[in-house]
Amino acid sequence: MKSTGPTTGLRFLVLGSAAGGGLPQWNCNCSNCAAARDPSSGLQPQTQSSLAVSIDGETWAIFNASPDIRQQIQQTPHLHPKALRHSPIQSVVITNADVDHIGGLLTIREKQAFSLFSTAAIGSVLDASPVFRVLDPDFVARKTIRLDEDFSPLDGLEARIFAVPGKVALFLEDGEPELGLEGEQTIGVEFVANGKRAYYIPGCATLPDWLCERISGADLVFFDGTVFTDDEMIRVGTGIKTGQRMGHMPITGDDAGGGGSLEALSKLGIGRMVYVHINNTNPIWRQGPERDAVTEAGFEVGHDGMEIELA
Ligand code: MLT
Ligand code: MN
Ligand code: ZN
Repeated sequence: MKSTGPTTGLRFLVLGSAAGGGLPQWNCNCSNCAAARDPSSGLQPQTQSSLAVSIDGETWAIFNASPDIRQQIQQTPHLHPKALRHSPIQSVVITNADVDHIGGLLTIREKQAFSLFSTAAIGSVLDASPVFRVLDPDFVARKTIRLDEDFSPLDGLEARIFAVPGKVALFLEDGEPELGLEGEQTIGVEFVANGKRAYYIPGCATLPDWLCERISGADLVFFDGTVFTDDEMIRVGTGIKTGQRMGHMPITGDDAGGGGSLEALSKLGIGRMVYVHINNTNPIWRQGPERDAVTEAGFEVGHDGMEIELA
């Protein structure tokens, strides 16, 4: 990891680039997962979905508390304690209530002060599970954030959340969930600092015109790269669900099926586009025509430890 000095720009660190389950997933032996277990393959294992953001390089806000957060902190010197009991992590912000984004809250329970930001809807999911009471309210300040209102997860960092098309968390599904729901269940985050604008959207079911307009011309967008094709899990034989059914728009797709994020995003004049929340079945993990298609269109494939600074 490169050394860091004080800065006033936006600094992003991908703590986990994989979707729920990670790469490899514990019970999967698809070709990607098998390769990620084989040190000679060149495919590094990747942890579950999380992004760290800082302005000064000293204090950090974590977007999504993945079940791998202990390992992510361990492999990120920026996030190590600097005193007997201390953490550079000042806040945690949750973008939806799926296990890959809240499971890590149970790991950071050791009476360390931080702020936990969520929408009222996501907060009520945490409130409904008594296990999250392990986060002692004397230390963890729960803060409710509203759609389209400014909040400050770190001193000097201006952020705003907004609804993106999604669905309720997997474990809250009761029959067929409403897909493409726009509410407090699934949010994107907008960051502004030093005249730069960036977005973190790890889960998104479609890219309607209003959302394209919102992120158009941004300096940086981290976007949902769960599946390359909608039927990928079915074709690989690992599952029966499409990306759409999971609340994730595919990277590529035909217009009849709603199109893909690659075509939609690449028209928007965005400075850097990075796929994150990538499922273990996704062929872009490895060299090949799918990864070439993504990189030729100007996208980057996120990976654990990836650092981006917008100075
Ligand atoms: C998803 O993004 O679809 C979820 O992480 C699913 C899950 O909870 O495994
Ligand atoms: Mn997920
Ligand atoms: Zn797999």
